[in-house]
Amino acid sequence: MIDDLHAARDGALAEIEAATDLDELTRLDARLLGKKGELADFKKRLGGLSTPDEKRTAGQAVNEVLAAVGAALARRRDELTVAARAAAVEAERLDLTEFVSAPTRGHAHVVTQAWERLEDVFIGLGFQVVEGPEVETDWYNFEALNMAEGHPARGEFDTLFVDHVAPGGTPGHTLLRTHTSPVQIRAMQAMEPPIYVVAPGRVFRRDTPDATHMPVFHQIEGLVIDKGITMAHLAGTIEAFTKAFFGGDFSSRLRPSYFPFTEPSAEFDIHRGGGDWLELGGCGMVHPNVLRAGGIDPEEWTGFAFGFGIDRMAVMRHEIADLREMYTNDLRFIEQF
Ligand code: DAH
Repeated sequence: MIDDLHAARDGALAEIEAATDLDELTRLDARLLGKKGELADFKKRLGGLSTPDEKRTAGQAVNEVLAAVGAALARRRDELTVAARAAAVEAERLDLTEFVSAPTRGHAHVVTQAWERLEDVFIGLGFQVVEGPEVETDWYNFEALNMAEGHPARGEFDTLFVDHVAPGGTPGHTLLRTHTSPVQIRAMQAMEPPIYVVAPGRVFRRDTPDATHMPVFHQIEGLVIDKGITMAHLAGTIEAFTKAFFGGDFSSRLRPSYFPFTEPSAEFDIHRGGGDWLELGGCGMVHPNVLRAGGIDPEEWTGFAFGFGIDRMAVMRHEIADLREMYTNDLRFIEQF
């Protein structure tokens, strides 16, 4: 029996050593040490031995084998547990090396760059930045700016209308603002004079995109309302802006023009040294009807306004040949700036 026992022990230990995962080991444990297990069988066989001496010796041998097999199982379980954990860690491992080099960062779009620089320059001149809605009413976009229904100047704005009736409004009177000038009215309504504001923003016109036109573009509006404001303040502000934005070697001029919302009106041009004059935008003294629409008494206050395109500033600054390039989002173009 002792020989059988030792043979069984050696077999068991070899199997335990050969077990490759915890499930297998658990099954082995049950097979070897379970109530009906192979080694338990030897305990039963003790009863069949004849002398107490034999029983004691054999009993001791069985206990030693059970202990040895139990210890081998425990040791192998420890080993396999460590190995299983290592395998799980390896399987869940994340390769973080791709984040070791800094991810490439984008930058502001050329139009946004021009927009932000314009804001900076005007803030430096003492202006406050305000904004208005892109969807406007006919009243703010035209009527309050001295363009009553049927005014011929309305025809110059290829207006996109919105299928929406404003509360208390008239059908066909909701539109995408064609310029930032309606923000003048909103600023006058919202603020007490003196007012020194600029309003950059997106504007819309029914235009087919080509090298110099886009149906969506950007303008910046300026409005000053104070006591005793004259055309000289307007010219001085335009000149100060020109030098601050383009550089000290640039200068500006005003040319008589016409806008319904200003009287007198002018267009302003800039140039560098003896270079060509470049038309930048429109300006003028705020028309009394416009002051009244904004709730401001034209007998007490006067003011000037100006407006010009932001996209064109970016085009000029970077010598971009085609306006459409700025909105196709081709990285080969965008990454140049
Ligand atoms: N709103 C005009 C346009 O889009 C530009 C403009 C001209 C704005 C004269 C003004 C101004 O404030 O005084 O063509």
